[in-house]
Amino acid sequence: MFKSIALFALLNAALVSSVALVPKSTAAAATAEVVNSANAINVVETCTQTNLRSCLQFTSTTLPVGCTSLDSAGQTNDVESVSTASGIQCTFFTGTLCNGNSQLINGTINDLAVVGFSNVANSFSCVSN
Ligand SMILES: *[C@@H]1O[C@H](CO)[C@@H](O)[C@H](O)[C@H]1NC(C)=O
Repeated sequence: MFKSIALFALLNAALVSSVALVPKSTAAAATAEVVNSANAINVVETCTQTNLRSCLQFTSTTLPVGCTSLDSAGQTNDVESVSTASGIQCTFFTGTLCNGNSQLINGTINDLAVVGFSNVANSFSCVSN
């Protein structure tokens, strides 16, 4: 499991320069509250402690999910574990506008320190995997 995560990190690092050339998604951002809409789907949870503790649940009515600020959600430089919903992968960024260094997450990471991304994420965007 950890070996494949490390591979993701390397692949992602190799792709960072080309990511900057891709136009920003115009898709709507996720919201950090539980929306009691029949159409809302769970997208990702971001947690300020390891092992998916102290989490915010993000939902959206559509995919892809556009740039969503963790800074605005009150988790500035504070996310230590994440879990993407089944069928969804998210890219986390150090900048608040989906800029800076990035890390692809597909599934659950109980400790972002494993991929060198603990307490540095400030935004994310998500797509179907
Ligand atoms: C993401 O994880 C799922 C479930 O393990 C897997 O089926 C899928 O192929 C993965 N997607 C990518 C892009 O690696």
